[in-house]
Amino acid sequence: KVYRASTFAPVNIAVIKYWGKRDTKLNLPTNSSLSVTLSQDDLRTHTTASCSASFASDTLTLNGQPQDISTPRTQACLRELRSLRKDLESKNSSLSQLSSLQLKIVSENNFPTAAGLASSAAGFAALVRSIANLYALPASPTELSRIARQGSGSACRSLFGGYVGWNHGSAADGSDSIAYEVAPADHWSDMRAVILVASAEKKDVSSTAGMQATVGTSALFKARAETIVPQRMEEMEEAIRKKDFAAFASLTMRDSNSFHATCLDTDPPIFYMNDTSRAAVRVCQAINETAGRTVCAYTFDAGPNAVVYYLAADEAAVAGTFRGILGEKTGWEGSRGEKVEKAGQVPENIAGSVETLQKGISRVILTGVGDGPRQTEEH
Ligand code: DP6
Repeated sequence: KVYRASTFAPVNIAVIKYWGKRDTKLNLPTNSSLSVTLSQDDLRTHTTASCSASFASDTLTLNGQPQDISTPRTQACLRELRSLRKDLESKNSSLSQLSSLQLKIVSENNFPTAAGLASSAAGFAALVRSIANLYALPASPTELSRIARQGSGSACRSLFGGYVGWNHGSAADGSDSIAYEVAPADHWSDMRAVILVASAEKKDVSSTAGMQATVGTSALFKARAETIVPQRMEEMEEAIRKKDFAAFASLTMRDSNSFHATCLDTDPPIFYMNDTSRAAVRVCQAINETAGRTVCAYTFDAGPNAVVYYLAADEAAVAGTFRGILGEKTGWEGSRGEKVEKAGQVPENIAGSVETLQKGISRVILTGVGDGPRQTEEH
């Protein structure tokens, strides 16, 4: 007999960034962070977990390729989930002894893994959620976030939809370093994002290595972790509660810049943003100036891709302008039909940035805020 369960898990893009760990084994962060969960109609990992007495060992495949399942991060997740299942089995003797069976985990991303999108977040969230489903664990998303965090820090935020915080916590065992819902997706459902994929190259410094180099050498980092981020977390939660896009946008852009400043302040310096990224920043500024108010906000993770947030009502001004600049790239039709009908006016006086963007962007992805993991039929 083979037992099986499947889930989709979403990607999330932080607007207050996680950068730096106080414990590298448990992925305990030095500062709290906050993200927007993106729609699984556009970006997702689909994972099926199964277990059977006929399986010889635990296995993991991603997009058809066998993966190393013995890494400490994956093992930590499997150990925690098995132990929760064991507790259930010991309390209820009629339950099948699934905790002692070998697991087969099959994952697929519907987006290019190499594009530098947040694939580890969706990946570990899907791994943890699918096994929790298989084991019929009564665990809440909060409890599962504590487990997924050990796979990859940012993964803990992908257990929830909408607007999601991750408390840095203070306990040494990480028990209070968990994700929480700031607001569900339907609280502010017209939040959209266009992702400008700048390069399909693999990033040169992994986030795990990069953040530890920053912790070890950056003088700016201390101020960011101790003063800047705690203040911004409060302001960002407030902006989301009030649906104040101007405040949300200002905090998002400033926090992305602050994070990249600590990267530049690392010795040796780390450059995640490139000329294409900087051109995207200039174009966003020009779009906001043309509109006479803040209609879009850029943010960059540990790579050159730009994620630009905007509200549905400003789609023509934001996504339309990018379409005017970039022309007929793949991706202008979002899977929920949020088509960018017209190419908008290209801002004046930034011809150099427009040209850099045209050269540097290979594809775009149109998406928006979305829900948390969804249980699915097996594949
Ligand atoms: C810049 O979650 O990938 O995207 O915990 O080492 O797996 P590990 O790091 P990871 O780091 C993400 C960093 C970031 C900011 C963010 O998502 O908050």
